[in-house]
Amino acid sequence: MKELEDAVKKQFPHLREQASREIYFYNAALFDQYVDFIKSHPLFKQELSLTPTTEKKIVKIVKRTTPTLKERGMTHKDVMERAKRIKNDEFYTRYEDVEKEIEMYPLETWKGKCVFCNCDDAVGESRTEKDSSAFALYFIKNFIRLGLKKLICTHYSGQMDLFNAGAKGYVFTKKGVKEMTSAPRGYTGCFEDPLSIKILKEEADIVCTNPPFSRARDYWKLVINSGKKFLIISNITNCKNDTYLPYFINKKVWAGFNSVDWFLTPKREPVRAAGHWFTNIKITKRPKSNNLKFVPLDEIPDRFKNYDDDGTLCVDNNFIPIGYKKPIAVSPRQILNGILEKGYKIAQAKQYRPYVNGREVFARILIQKE
Ligand SMILES: C[S@@+](CC[C@H](N)C(=O)[O-])C[C@H]1O[C@@H](n2cnc3c(N)ncnc32)[C@H](O)[C@@H]1O
Repeated sequence: MKELEDAVKKQFPHLREQASREIYFYNAALFDQYVDFIKSHPLFKQELSLTPTTEKKIVKIVKRTTPTLKERGMTHKDVMERAKRIKNDEFYTRYEDVEKEIEMYPLETWKGKCVFCNCDDAVGESRTEKDSSAFALYFIKNFIRLGLKKLICTHYSGQMDLFNAGAKGYVFTKKGVKEMTSAPRGYTGCFEDPLSIKILKEEADIVCTNPPFSRARDYWKLVINSGKKFLIISNITNCKNDTYLPYFINKKVWAGFNSVDWFLTPKREPVRAAGHWFTNIKITKRPKSNNLKFVPLDEIPDRFKNYDDDGTLCVDNNFIPIGYKKPIAVSPRQILNGILEKGYKIAQAKQYRPYVNGREVFARILIQKE
C-alpha cells in the first residue's frame, strides 16, 4: 500500500494541497485520471464495486442578504451593460481544441515554464469538468509530462456572480496546489487587476487562454505589452483589425496551427465559432501552408478573383497569383495559413476596404510580394 501511495504522490504532486498535504482530485476528469493510474499500476489486483447506500440528503436553507445596487455603487445601466457583455463572453473552449493545439508545440516549449491562464476557472462551481476551464484541465492533467514549473489560473467573478464574491485563483507547483486566498480584498480576477498584472509580469512565462471576446483588443494590448510568450484564441477576423495588424506586419506574432470552429455554451452545448489560435511562440513547420494555392493569375477561376473599383486585385479561396507584383487584397484565411512566411508582406498598416460598383464589400488585408 505504501508503495502505491508513494507512486500516486509522485504522479500527482501538483494536486497535493499545500496545507493539508492531501491529494485532491476535485473534478471528475482528474479523478478518472487517478483511477486509470491505479488500474495500470503493477500492484493493481482487481476492481471491486460496492453497492452504494442511499444517503438522506439534508438541505440547509441559508438566508442570503444581497447588497443593493446602491451599496455596490452600481446603476441599473451598469448591470444591463455587464449582462450584455457576459452573453457575448460566456463561450468555452472544448478540451479537444486545447489539446490539439498545444500538442503541436515541442515539449521544450513548456519545460520549466510558468503558464498563466488568466481567464480560466481551474475548478468550477460544480467541481465537475463541465465548468472547469479546458485550459486548466489540460495543463493540470499534463503538468508532469510537459515539465511545467507552475500553473496559475485566475478567473473573473464579475459575471454570473455579480457581487464579486467568487473571485478565485489556483497555483499548481510540484509542491502542491494552493488556492489564492491571500488575494487582496476586492480582487475580481480581471486580467487587468493589479494582482493579475503582477503575476503576468513577474511570474508568467507563457500566457494561454481564450480571453473574453468583448475585451479582445484590451487583452491583446496587455499581453503584447507584457513581452511574454502567449498562445491564445481570438476571432479569425481580428488579425485584420488595427490593434492586431501592426504586430503581424512586424512579424512579431502569427497564427497558431488550428482554427477553433466550435465553442461550448454555459450549458455545454456546442455552438459554431470562428476562432483561431494566435501566438508568438515559434512555429517552424506549418501544415496549413499547403492550403495556399500558388498559380498564375489566369488560372485562378473567375469566381475567386475580381478587381475592386480602384483596380486592386482581390483573391479568395486561398489562391495566390504567382508573379503578381502589385498589392493583392486577401482575406484573413491566407494570413492564417501562413502567406507571410512565404515571401509576402502586409502592404498597408490598416485593413483594406474594397468598393465594388460603389458598394463597400468585406474588409481585407493588402499583401504584396517581398
Ligand atoms: C470566451 S470565455 C473563455 C473561458 C475559458 N478561458 C475557456 O477557454 O473556456 C472568456 C471568459 O473570460 C471571462 N472574463 C470576462 N471578462 C473578464 C476579465 N475582465 N478578466 C478576466 N476574465 C474575464 C468571462 O467570464 C469568460 O468566462
